[in-house]
Amino acid sequence: MKGLILSGGKGTRLRPLTHTSAKQLVPVANKPVLFYGLEAMGAAGIGDVGIIIAPETGAEIRDAAGDGSRFGVSIEYIEQDEPLGLAHAVLTAEPFLGDSPFVMYLGDNLLRDGIVDLVDTFRTEEPDALILLTPVPDPEHYGVAELNGEGRVGRLVEKPKEPQTNLALVGVYMFKPAIFDAARAIEPSWRGELEITDAIQTLVDRGLRVDPHIVHGWWKDTGQVQDMLEANRLILDDLEERVEGELVNSRVEGRVVIEEGARLERTTVRGPAIVGRGSQIRDAYIGPYTAIGEEVAIEKAELEHSIVLSGSSIRDLEYRIEASLIGKDVRIGRGPALPKAYRFVVGDHADVQIL
Ligand code: G1P
Repeated sequence: MKGLILSGGKGTRLRPLTHTSAKQLVPVANKPVLFYGLEAMGAAGIGDVGIIIAPETGAEIRDAAGDGSRFGVSIEYIEQDEPLGLAHAVLTAEPFLGDSPFVMYLGDNLLRDGIVDLVDTFRTEEPDALILLTPVPDPEHYGVAELNGEGRVGRLVEKPKEPQTNLALVGVYMFKPAIFDAARAIEPSWRGELEITDAIQTLVDRGLRVDPHIVHGWWKDTGQVQDMLEANRLILDDLEERVEGELVNSRVEGRVVIEEGARLERTTVRGPAIVGRGSQIRDAYIGPYTAIGEEVAIEKAELEHSIVLSGSSIRDLEYRIEASLIGKDVRIGRGPALPKAYRFVVGDHADVQIL
């Protein structure tokens, strides 16, 4: 069995971070989202993994994931010229996948319990496709499945205005090669994409067997800022305490990771939280569900439920930062002079809220 991870797309819903970086490389608990998928492949014993990349961000993905050896897999990169849909990505990967059954994993998805059980079920049951479903409160934002009387998949609709069930398609799918013909048979949807949902519906229409698998552990599609923060919270919840950095007149409470080379001075960190290598934090409070990347400087500031990427600095703030996603090498601080004023240099599509 082979693996296919989709790591292309434009990540428009995560701008401005995705103006300069691939959405799959935004870190959750200081690890790129994409790596969780790669680890899941390795854990399931899937050795050959193809990663679909976009021309704009492909090089960055290659640099980050490399040859895959550290995840226990071997990676082949496959360029998709344009983001024309998940079924289009499958067709793009056809030469790599050949006649092997495969697991397809959307590179911005996180699945708490991994894919080991699923791969086992697929191997023993041998359906033509196995799709993961989970109940969600907002099914209109996802592909939605209806089951038939025998508990198989009867109908699938991509982002229906009036969903008939609350069962969303999770971004992990298992297929036999019949999916290629099905993907060739469909037309682009209203959003101009070849939808994998429609290709799976074609399998059903052709009388092939599509089995559902209900996911009970949490699942997150990290396509938007709120999802990213939520995923960060969920992963940090499972954190194991480890303090390797230096603490000077500082306190850590609960499950906290302080990486080597980080230094805390007169600071309280209340977990679950993580502080990356080389970060310098002084006279600060880092609250629960916060992930601070590498080489970040924080001074006289408070943060909670936020993600700060590497190289940024945050200084002299009057109020606590919360529910924020702060990119790489960002500077946030207070200027010395009067009159009191706001002074911003923010990128396109940034979102600044003063509450
Ligand atoms: C895609 C699929 C959708 C699925 C979702 C899961 O949506 O088209 O069926 O429910 O991933 O993350 P997209 O992220 O392209 O909007």
